[in-house]
Amino acid sequence: MELFKVNGHKNLCGEVSLHGAKNSALPVLCACLLVKGESIIHNCPNLSDVRATLKILENLGCTVARQGNTVTVNAAQVSGFAIDEAMMRTMRSSILFLGALLSRTGNANIYLPGGCDIGTRPVDLHLKAIKNLGVSVEENGSCISCTTGGIKGAKIILPFASVGATENIMIAAAVSKGKTIIINAAREPEICDLAEFLNKCGAKIYGAGEGTIEIEGVKVLKPCEHRIIPDRILASTYMSACAATGGEIVINDIKATHLSPVFPVFNEMGCRLYLNGASLKVIAPKRLRRVKTIKTMPYPAFPTDSQPMVTAALCVAKGTSVIKENIFENRFGYVSELNRFGADVEVNDTLAVINGVKKLKGANVFAGDLRGGAALIVAALAAEGTSTIRSIYHIDRGYASIEQELEKLGADIKRINDEEAKEKELKSS
Ligand code: EPZ
Repeated sequence: MELFKVNGHKNLCGEVSLHGAKNSALPVLCACLLVKGESIIHNCPNLSDVRATLKILENLGCTVARQGNTVTVNAAQVSGFAIDEAMMRTMRSSILFLGALLSRTGNANIYLPGGCDIGTRPVDLHLKAIKNLGVSVEENGSCISCTTGGIKGAKIILPFASVGATENIMIAAAVSKGKTIIINAAREPEICDLAEFLNKCGAKIYGAGEGTIEIEGVKVLKPCEHRIIPDRILASTYMSACAATGGEIVINDIKATHLSPVFPVFNEMGCRLYLNGASLKVIAPKRLRRVKTIKTMPYPAFPTDSQPMVTAALCVAKGTSVIKENIFENRFGYVSELNRFGADVEVNDTLAVINGVKKLKGANVFAGDLRGGAALIVAALAAEGTSTIRSIYHIDRGYASIEQELEKLGADIKRINDEEAKEKELKSS
């Protein structure tokens, strides 16, 4: 088991570049199953969730390869339509193989997906949507068996703009008979990136990013090359770390429009932001100001995935900030660990009240999920003294070698082997 050891309270300074977006790479890789040939995906981050997705593709008969940040997926041959429960439980996005398998093979034998423990996260909207597309669905406990004689276009009204359900419908309906319309579709940049990939393969998807998506089913998709968009949530993680440490950093390879939902929050904290093409300079004030209220909502509002890291930064702001989490019912699980640094955050259901403190002190904490883990890194970087963060496998799911990137900004953070750490501690004691 590995852990991060952090010596905090250093102003971050320097330049980093964003890697590709996890939440775009995963649906695009699932969609590669639709293509009877070799898809080439550039800027594909080397994350444990990406490796798990490639493993599932291999188990389904595809050949996959990685060279640097380029991944190739050859799905000329698909030999199966079943994914075992263990693989399904590694992450939430495994559910996106449902649409891909049904479109490619007419069948899918899968299980309820796993993923971050931030709420109940049902898949009812996914299953309801594919039933509308002419699929028969059998649920037996956590096992889901589906079959279809061919995907048929339909009008689907989503009661909630679910990112995953929108992506599953796009993947299922790209190769189908007739037209599919998604009303109240998710508008996240990752939705647009998936549509762009599929359209490059010959799909006919219109309106991605606008709330209503129209898909004219086509007969076949041809291979293409695609570059994954930069990770806007990674950008907000670096911005939070800079803010919490009073730093001055430059983040390269950003897409400014994708970050427009978070800019006002960092401005209100007192950070100065300078855009220069695909680079963003962030200069943090000596002491952050509080932010009156933040409400997480679907894009283009403030992203729920940035909430934990921004909460960690606001722990050292002057004054009291309030955050309302509207997407997931249990996304403040990390707060009890955050308060071990001497933070003063009160949580009542989906509302957090952050009473800013002058300083944080080093602590030994455990990551409980991906973004909660990132919040603990932000707190450890701001804290005086040494901290250790365990269960970092959660963090590796969405951040590629985050410690090496933060070291480029002058952070004192090391990935060490837990056993070695224990031995060293014993020897020193
Ligand atoms: C995607 O999850 C992201 N994951 C999440 O990022 C992100 O937090 C979320 O979208 C919202 O932006 C990936 O892209 C792999 P949803 P997803 O379907 O698709 C409820 C991270 O940290 N819902 O938009 O699961 C659901 O319970 C991760 O990178 C249903 O009730 O999100 C939640 O409350 C965490 N029934 C809400 O909708 C359904 O069938 C939003 O879920 C589907 C969803």
